[in-house]
Amino acid sequence: PPLDEILNLHDFEAIARQVMPEKAWAYYSSAADDEITNRENHAAYHRIWFRPRVLRNVTKVDWSTTILGHRSRMPLYITATALGKLGHPDGELNLTRAAAKHGVIQMIPTLASCSFDEIMDAAQPGQVQFFQLYVNKDRSVTKRIVQHAEKRGIKGLFITVDAPQLGRREKDMRMKFEAEDPSEVSKAGSQGVDRSQGAARAISSFIDPGLEWADIDWFKSITKMPLILKGVQCWEDALMAYDAGLAGVVLSNHGGRQLDFARSGIEVLVEVVAKLGEKRGLKFPNEKFQLFVDGGVRRATDVLKAIALGATAVGIGRPFLYAFSSYGFEGVDKALQILHDEFEMNLRLLGAPTVKDIVPGMVDASSISSH
Ligand code: FNR
Repeated sequence: PPLDEILNLHDFEAIARQVMPEKAWAYYSSAADDEITNRENHAAYHRIWFRPRVLRNVTKVDWSTTILGHRSRMPLYITATALGKLGHPDGELNLTRAAAKHGVIQMIPTLASCSFDEIMDAAQPGQVQFFQLYVNKDRSVTKRIVQHAEKRGIKGLFITVDAPQLGRREKDMRMKFEAEDPSEVSKAGSQGVDRSQGAARAISSFIDPGLEWADIDWFKSITKMPLILKGVQCWEDALMAYDAGLAGVVLSNHGGRQLDFARSGIEVLVEVVAKLGEKRGLKFPNEKFQLFVDGGVRRATDVLKAIALGATAVGIGRPFLYAFSSYGFEGVDKALQILHDEFEMNLRLLGAPTVKDIVPGMVDASSISSH
């Protein structure tokens, strides 16, 4: 269907399912085991309701914000998703270009199909980008990747901590990942690839399951970039990240692709905000220690709920993959435009002229306990 018939982010998924090669669909859409967490990620937002305010003069609304000190035209970012060329020949560049056009931040994955430098070269001057890091068993490889990223101007290093081993994604495992595949991951990030068990397994065999808290100091010694842990799933670890002097955490279960029955990020957010308030007197959103959430975000209303509950911004993954797999750059452009339009309307209806006006009192999250 023509792009102007696309009305929301869900539509891209329905189209991608029909037009994508089976193998690519399997890799992008799959989640761990019975995919319960994957479904819960979006469903959890359905348990949170709004308490809108009236008579707030919403003639002008502004949904821009700052993420790690950098301006973003929306309180969201494009999260890291591997293997962009499985869906489209331009791969991650579709995201880079659309991010530039809409003034949002792209998190570049270690396992991008395009090389890191190709992506950086495609960016506009001054375009802010983050980098997602999978830590290699060979730390000299990791050190080289990190320092190169910093040199090229990356503004935040998101270390993925929820994937000491890749989850069991059966849809994907049924497909073989072939060595001659043109969408093969760029050589920079990975090493020692095992190609016998689906794309996810094939590209991830280099990841170090020995990564531990004691390694944080090493990261601090090799880079000055803000360090954020991606994949924190309970308040205890969020507190340790804060105490370790990190810049923030992404409350995420990797899009349901790792431990099935992990809770949704939005549910974890509620307990993290409560407990870090109680134990360290922190208030969120917080400039010094930022909370991010990803998983199942499909509407501006989902984003607004996370902001109201204390997140600085949210990450969105699959919808952009489906958008470029179906329509290339124009698809991602359209997806971001849809989100813009949804923000404008929903901020008006919520009675919040700016992101700062979105406060906890605007949501009823009472069906989510704070443990
Ligand atoms: C991911 N995700 C991911 N995360 C990461 O840290 N490194 C990676 O290489 C990838 N790769 C990846 C590939 C694909 C196809 C998907 C769908 C996801 C997880 C991603 O960053 C994020 O946590 C989720 O995608 C968010 O959920 P939604 O928005 O896809 O529901």
